[in-house]
Amino acid sequence: MFSGEVIAVTSGKGGVGKSTVSVNLALALKKLGKKVAIVDLDIYGFSVPKLLGISARPKTVNERIIPVEAHGIKVMSMGFLIKGNEPVVWRGPMLGKMVNHFWSDVQWGELDYMILDLPPGTGDVALDMHQLIPQSKEIVVTTPHEAATHVAERAGSMAIKTDHEIIGVVENMAFFTPPGTEDQYYLFGKGGGETLADTLNTELISSLPIEPPYPDGTTPVLYEEGTVLHDHFLDLAKKVLVKTNQTSNV
Ligand SMILES: Nc1ncnc2c1ncn2[C@@H]1O[C@H](COP(=O)(O)OP(=O)(O)OP(=O)(O)O)[C@@H](O)[C@H]1O
Ligand SMILES: [Mg+2]
Repeated sequence: MFSGEVIAVTSGKGGVGKSTVSVNLALALKKLGKKVAIVDLDIYGFSVPKLLGISARPKTVNERIIPVEAHGIKVMSMGFLIKGNEPVVWRGPMLGKMVNHFWSDVQWGELDYMILDLPPGTGDVALDMHQLIPQSKEIVVTTPHEAATHVAERAGSMAIKTDHEIIGVVENMAFFTPPGTEDQYYLFGKGGGETLADTLNTELISSLPIEPPYPDGTTPVLYEEGTVLHDHFLDLAKKVLVKTNQTSNV
């Protein structure tokens, strides 16, 4: 247990950038001086350890799990508990029990923010999370495409139904600017984030462009200084501080 803010990053649809937003928001909050943890609740497609380059596993001391630390943030992932297809720490229990374990059996220490990377859809984990961590707030990720905003709306209305505060909508892959130009190409359409924010009665807090690949063809996943998305994530983190009233020491 801890007293910081819990922020669940959701969307109805897969592949819109939830894990990307979760990890890079967590790193940006850390850069702003906050104590941050990220929890990867995606049992089928856990990706946070890979994004953060983690191969270590958490240790258990006195039946308490010590989270892995990477890039200055604490990390727990469903991926830590699965060996091949076998859960290594807890056999048998359903997702809800695992969410519960993450929440109560992990020695988090002092934290300002805990970011939850949720799986796509409004399935078991999202439901359990709403029940287990009623104070968690949500960031809803969508692409500008209508199909993505439509399903994200379902995730968002779930938050409203269960009384979760929505911090705002993040529109990912909003546009592309070819390197060396100022042009903005709206490859997936325009305005979806704004529309979704209106529907959910919240604010569009970020429009993230598409990051171009590096010259060697590889694509970054952590947006360090020098990438297009670096400053966007810092701005998003600052908005989150304001929305959660933690601006005093930035
Ligand atoms: N703004 C962006 N620019 C370029 N690539 C991006 C951007 N956002 C996400 N990606 C890439 O898109 C892919 C999907 O992103 P990500 O895994 O974060 O989505 P997700 O919503 O977590 O997916 P899932 O539903 O499977 O968990 C990844 O390869 C990621 O690196
Ligand atoms: Mg993901």
